[in-house]
Amino acid sequence: MNKAIILAGGQGKRMKADIPKPLFKVLGEPMLEWVISACEDAGVSDICVIKGFKGEMIDEYLNGRYKTALQAERLGTGHAVMQAVPFLKEDDSDNTLVLCGDAPFIDAKTIEEALVIHKQQKNAVTVITAELDEPKGYGRIIRTDKGISGIVEQKDANEEQLQIKEVNSGAYWFRTADLIGLLGKLTNNNVQNEYYLTDTISIALAEGKNAGAYKSENPEIILGANDRKDLLELNNIARMAVIDKHLANGVEFICTDGVIIERSVEIGVGTQIQPSTILRNGTKIGSGCIIGPNALADDCTIGDNVVFNASQAYSSTIDSGVTVGPYVHIRPDSHIKSGVHIGDFVEIKNSTIGEKTAIAHLAYIGDSDIGKKVNIGCGTVTVNYDGISKSRCVIGDNCFIGCNTNLIAPVKLGKAVYTAAGTTVTRDVPDYALAIDRGVMKVNEGYTLRKLKKQ
Ligand code: UD1
Ligand code: CA
Repeated sequence: MNKAIILAGGQGKRMKADIPKPLFKVLGEPMLEWVISACEDAGVSDICVIKGFKGEMIDEYLNGRYKTALQAERLGTGHAVMQAVPFLKEDDSDNTLVLCGDAPFIDAKTIEEALVIHKQQKNAVTVITAELDEPKGYGRIIRTDKGISGIVEQKDANEEQLQIKEVNSGAYWFRTADLIGLLGKLTNNNVQNEYYLTDTISIALAEGKNAGAYKSENPEIILGANDRKDLLELNNIARMAVIDKHLANGVEFICTDGVIIERSVEIGVGTQIQPSTILRNGTKIGSGCIIGPNALADDCTIGDNVVFNASQAYSSTIDSGVTVGPYVHIRPDSHIKSGVHIGDFVEIKNSTIGEKTAIAHLAYIGDSDIGKKVNIGCGTVTVNYDGISKSRCVIGDNCFIGCNTNLIAPVKLGKAVYTAAGTTVTRDVPDYALAIDRGVMKVNEGYTLRKLKKQ
């Protein structure tokens, strides 16, 4: 079985943060996750992640999904792979892919094509390379007329070698049994006193084994982040790549400023995404919608022909033909059914809103089940929390909730109930009734004039 080792032991000091560098996010997902998904997409799922600096954070993130090996000290990329020798020995009959956890754009196509070359050439090791106009920082690929002869790190390179534009991506295929043997022969005899994985190439060749290179036409696959500026650049590249994919699928963008769409998001044909829209976490949007400006949807399912303007929604479902916004906050576990209209300054939490109901302005609906064609007046509040526990409000179909109604949960209103403006509903109301709770209004004539005279 083919295996993969992902190197994620480094700290990334230049990030100036106390987390392992591969956990920094590009478009909402840790770089490590991008690398894992490339492996999975290429059909390699027996993966061992090498952890080191703050390894417990890698464990916490992976949550048992993949094997890990601890590199207690950072003694180089070769040393990191040595920590996975027991993993390699579990099955050394096939090939092992080694990837860097901080180079998120490696993709399945590159991995698969490199494996084809690796097998065709019967190589002990095949390194994935690319040509960069600015190769600074990367290991340079040294070639002779017989093919690749080794890799020289930037810090160990001479003037002539520094001119080479073909660089090491940090991704390789190894024949697993050969990798185990080669690791045993690495030394740390170099400028950085590290065990370089790159030395496996020259060692393999010296032993009469084959070593080769697969040059990718897409230099982006090798990009990594050493500092926050690089990370921003990776985010920009990923962001535009996702937008390009949606453009090709028939999604409309009039201006992409501030638009951030994560990889996991799906959008239907003819939907228009307006500026400053952020779509995260597997959000699915149907066709013919207008989303934005200034909208955020996280883990939501949104139907067709929805207008979602300057609002935020989390872990909720919004059915077709709904209009939301501006300035609406839909909190988790809400279901807004088709044809609902929710206007400005409305907050909804853990509630179901029935078909064609209108909540036009300034309301809080929490822990409630609201029927169809209900009108929720301005200022309505479901009083769902008594300081100790939360309770539900149930409002039947066709109710008319007057402005500034307080509904003290738990409470249930039947079908077509009216509540008078300003009513505090403290007990259940049967079908077709009016709930009214008011003091007697007094009118004190001439009051203002008397008050002014006293001054
Ligand atoms: C490495 C390569 C270089 C290549 C570049 C591509 C070596 C010697 N050099 O250089 O040829 O062009 O990657 O990005 O391999 N790591 C550990 N433990 C360690 C050291 C590193 O787990 O002891 C991990 C890091 O977290 C990172 C990866 O290995 O994910 C690469 O390490 P890094 O220090 O960035 O290597 P480079 O010097 O960039
Ligand atoms: Ca690096």
